[in-house]
Amino acid sequence: MKVLVIGAGNMGLTYAEAMSKSKQLKKRNVMILDNSPEKILSLKKISHFDVFENLEDCLPQADLIFVAVKPYHSDDLFAKMRPLINKGQIVISIMAGVTIQTMQESLGIEKVVRAMPNLPAQVGKGVTSFIPSKQVSRIELLTVEDLLDTTGKSIQVSSENYIDASTGISGSGPAYVFYFMQSMMEAALKMGFSANDSKVLVSQTFDGAVELFNQSDLSPTSWMNKVASKGGTTRAALDSMEDNNVNELIKEAAYAAFDRAVELGK
Ligand SMILES: NC(=O)c1ccc[n+]([C@@H]2O[C@H](COP(=O)([O-])OP(=O)(O)OC[C@H]3O[C@@H](n4cnc5c(N)ncnc54)[C@H](OP(=O)(O)O)[C@@H]3O)[C@@H](O)[C@H]2O)c1
Repeated sequence: MKVLVIGAGNMGLTYAEAMSKSKQLKKRNVMILDNSPEKILSLKKISHFDVFENLEDCLPQADLIFVAVKPYHSDDLFAKMRPLINKGQIVISIMAGVTIQTMQESLGIEKVVRAMPNLPAQVGKGVTSFIPSKQVSRIELLTVEDLLDTTGKSIQVSSENYIDASTGISGSGPAYVFYFMQSMMEAALKMGFSANDSKVLVSQTFDGAVELFNQSDLSPTSWMNKVASKGGTTRAALDSMEDNNVNELIKEAAYAAFDRAVELGK
């Protein structure tokens, strides 16, 4: 099997690297295409992939085509792909807002998968939600899932609405975590810790809390209650958050991202 990754940006290179470690593929079975001559030159020097500048030279050989360009480049790219693509090939797109119907109509093929990854894919801890068109067979879907899972975990969703919804949770979610980290680091600095100590205190706290959560069946609320005792320090902090409606504000923020994803798709 051969995979062509179109777009050698952050996401494209992350997936190329990760997929090349899949049992289904070998490094030489991952091809990369980009439209920037400088990028191609530097990739040829440093990477172990076959790097291409023209669709004609790589697209016909691919069984699976992974599209990782910015959404506003999709029309132009699809128009160039259309005369070269055949109905047996599967296209996976991670482009925000580009629907299954748009892909099928623009490319003139039926087998497409729409996916929404997130940034921790870069360290193998990503989560990708995806939905295939109904023409993708079960066996093909297993291959797709296997390749997506090389960057972390994946969930198959039942409608494209959930792709937009997962943008609001996991796609944009890493930024919410960084927001919380930034606030805690600023508080630590204000309390007099050095920048380095603030970073260690905060990052280890996140890491430890997530590890505890992952190693148990307890809900976040149960863990909060375990840390907080009546009249204690944690309860004071949690009460302050409740008084300031932080819970509702976080949900509102997630919905703002969800709504924006829907809007961008129109
Ligand atoms: N980054 C994330 O966390 C994230 C999360 C979820 C989904 N996504 C999606 O992932 C996609 C890629 O994001 P990214 O951050 O990796 O973008 P990026 O760094 O801009 O990479 C895209 C690459 O594709 C190249 N390109 C553009 N048009 C092309 C064409 N017609 N043929 C070949 N190459 C072409 C671009 O070249 P130029 O720079 O010369 O244009 C660039 O090198 C986006 O659609 C985004 O919605 C990203």
